[in-house]
Amino acid sequence: LRAVTTYRLTEMKQRGEKIAMLTSYDYSMARIVDAAGVDVILVGDSAANVMAGYETTLPITLDMMIYHARSVVRAVSRALVVVDLPFGAYQGNSKVALDSAVRIMKETEADAVKMEGGEEILESVQRILSAGIPVMGHLGLTPQSIHKFGTYTVRAKEEAEAAKLVRDAHLLSDAGCFAVVLEKIPAALAGRVTREISAPTIGIGAGGACDGQVLVIHDMLGINKGFSPRFLRRYADLHTVMTDAVSQYVGDVKSGDFPNEKEQY
Ligand code: KIV
Ligand code: NA
Repeated sequence: LRAVTTYRLTEMKQRGEKIAMLTSYDYSMARIVDAAGVDVILVGDSAANVMAGYETTLPITLDMMIYHARSVVRAVSRALVVVDLPFGAYQGNSKVALDSAVRIMKETEADAVKMEGGEEILESVQRILSAGIPVMGHLGLTPQSIHKFGTYTVRAKEEAEAAKLVRDAHLLSDAGCFAVVLEKIPAALAGRVTREISAPTIGIGAGGACDGQVLVIHDMLGINKGFSPRFLRRYADLHTVMTDAVSQYVGDVKSGDFPNEKEQY
């Protein structure tokens, strides 16, 4: 077991200790993220965007997620490692869902899976939980449903959608999910859900009342220049740092400055 367990996250909620979560997709990045003290590392299907260059998260496959998850697990000793079940690997058939979750647990040795949706996927969530596999829920702006939404704007601003989100959060928490991600919903609604359910809530664009926060590592490090939603705080400008480093290297090679006499045998 890694140092942070699902049980530990439950304790953190009870004590009012905030949970820090970030994504990672590869060994070198996950080593840095784990050593810096992040509690939960998510091998997100956002790998489809930031690693593979797809416009949405829909094309990434279970095999691709397993490759990323194995790379991350090799690097991590402290943080809990959660892996997204990708689009098509769990919707509509709880046997398929269980098979996908079992593959992730067996082939990657990660600690838990994450799934998008509420009532629609409850049977699959229950079946996976029954097998002893911890499940993290994900409600609000669930990117695997982007074609249904047709927009990336804030979800659950209207009464009916907010009421369904509250219901779904209760269903997931009561079923035994160890945490629920709330993505891009009004802060007041996330606060209400956080107070009402026993599972810790992890927000992204869901305000400061959540029990924890998550960001995509490439976004918070400023590797992605084009993506600037209000909820994103940039902690570094790696796009500039990396661009400057690479162009200096190109210049040094072209000018003959690299390698110098000390940099050769
Ligand atoms: O795939 C992902 O990165 C996620 C987080 C943003 C919650 O699901
Ligand atoms: Na995801």
